[in-house]
Formats: sequence, C-alpha cells, structure tokens
Amino acid sequence: MTIPTPVRECVSKAESICVLTGAGISAESGVPTFRGKEGLWKKFRAEELANFDSFLRNPELVWEWYSYRKKIINEVQPNPGHIALAEMQRLIRDFTLVTQNVDNLHSRAGSRDVLELHGNITRSYCIRCRKAAFEESLSKAEKIPVCEFCGGLVRPDVVWFGEYLPAAAFEEAMESARRCDLFLCVGTSGVVYPAASIPLTAKEHGAFVLEINPEYTDLSSRVSDTLIGKAGEILPELVRIMKKEHNHESA
Ligand code: OAD
Repeated sequence: MTIPTPVRECVSKAESICVLTGAGISAESGVPTFRGKEGLWKKFRAEELANFDSFLRNPELVWEWYSYRKKIINEVQPNPGHIALAEMQRLIRDFTLVTQNVDNLHSRAGSRDVLELHGNITRSYCIRCRKAAFEESLSKAEKIPVCEFCGGLVRPDVVWFGEYLPAAAFEEAMESARRCDLFLCVGTSGVVYPAASIPLTAKEHGAFVLEINPEYTDLSSRVSDTLIGKAGEILPELVRIMKKEHNHESA
C-alpha cells in the first residue's frame, strides 16, 4: 500500500509513539472481532456473558464462552501486525503499546510492558480470596473452576461491563497519549469508553492521530487521518519507513 506523503513524513519523524489496538489487530490471526459481520457478539449475547451478575447467575455459560475463546487463542499465532508493533518498540525509545485485547498476542509477538486495559484471558483469579488460579487447576476443573486455596469461584482476569479499568494502566496510557507526537489507533471500532477517549486525548494534546482500519469508524471524523486497510499490511510498511529514517540518521 502507498502511504500518503504527510503520513510518511510524520511517521519518519516520530520520536514518541503511543498505539491503541483493538480486536481488529488479531483478526488476521483468526481471532474473531466483537462487532462487524463476523463479530463474536452476534453469536453470543454480550449482556449474558460479560458482566459480573451474569457470571454469578450462570458461571457455567460464561466459562463455556471463555473456554471457547481461549481455545481459539491457543491455536493461533501473532500476525505481521503484532510483529511490526514489537519491532517498532525496538526502534522508538519512547513507545507505549496500549491494548483492549485480552488475547496475549502482543506479548507473544515480543512486545514488552503492554498496557492491557481489559485484562488478559490467560489469567484467572478467585472472586473470594483474589488469589491467582493456575492454568493447571483450570484444566482439571469439571465445568466451573474453583479456587484451590479457599474453594471460591474462579473468574477470568478480564474487565467486564460495569467494572473499572485497571487504574494505573489507564493513567499510564493517558500520560503517553498526552506526550506522544504520533498516535496509532489500530483495529478498534472506537465505541467502548474510556479506551476510545485515549486517541482523542492525544489529538487534543497535538499528536498526529493515525487510524488504521479496513472501515471507517466512530473515531474517523475525529482523527488526523485514516488509512483504510489491514493492520497486518499497513504496520509493516510503517516500520519500513521508520527503519529507512534510522538508517539515514546513522549513516
Ligand atoms: P470491535 O470488534 O468493536 O472492532 C474491531 C475493529 O477492527 C472494527 O472497526 C473492524 O473494522 C476492524 N478490523 C477488522 N479487521 C481488521 C484488520 N485486519 N486490520 C485492522 N482493523 C481491522 O473491537 P474493539 O474495538 O476492540 O471489551 O472492541 C472494544 C471492546 O469491546 C473490546 O475490548 C471488548 C468489547 O466489548 C471488553 O471485553 C471489556
């Protein structure tokens, strides 16, 4: 894909980058997104699954859904989009990766210090004593895993509707958004807040906010530019531009 000249210039000059990713970055790995034609929420009713009251009412159904998602995630690999972001982190000294995804694919691709705003599906904890549950005890469980220390119900370590985001991670993300000169908003529909407010904060503080998505979204009219296309194709191209600049500087 040809990157427009103003975007190319901005990318090659960027010294501080903050990236927000959503389900779309994992789409090319084979993880379904939430919304859109093939969205997960079409097959499962979100309100039955992604909130604490529903979990207490029907933990078996909620665990069935998470086990299904964990199975998908275990079977897929990070794609060129994830890998490009890990590479970008090695090129840019001030780099922050913020994700709404719980699939752990950024870390598997080699990204470090990922700010996981919605938790991580590979972890679980007891709702009574809050101790982490080990994967081993989960796989031994019949249908609903219980805590090996106190017998309480174990839940996935993800943020559900009506719950607070991890405060420290969110604050760090906002700080990075206020500081960066380039903000990349990748593969998110931008409808879930407060995560969707992060690119808007970056824009208010003067960053060039570049959206990467095969479709226009709720954020498109508020960002600096949108590149219509797949993350796995556009992000490696942006890394190529950055590398060219680095080689040029060190020559
Ligand atoms: P969505 O499913 O709402 O949006 C996915 C976005 O990815 C859409 O805008 C797609 O057009 C785009 N997309 C699809 N394929 C892509 C590709 N190859 N490259 C780039 N973009 C692509 O997912 P999120 O915005 O992440 O929250 O959803 C936000 C939150 O809603 C999730 O974290 C989850 C859900 O409720 C919680 O679980 C708390």
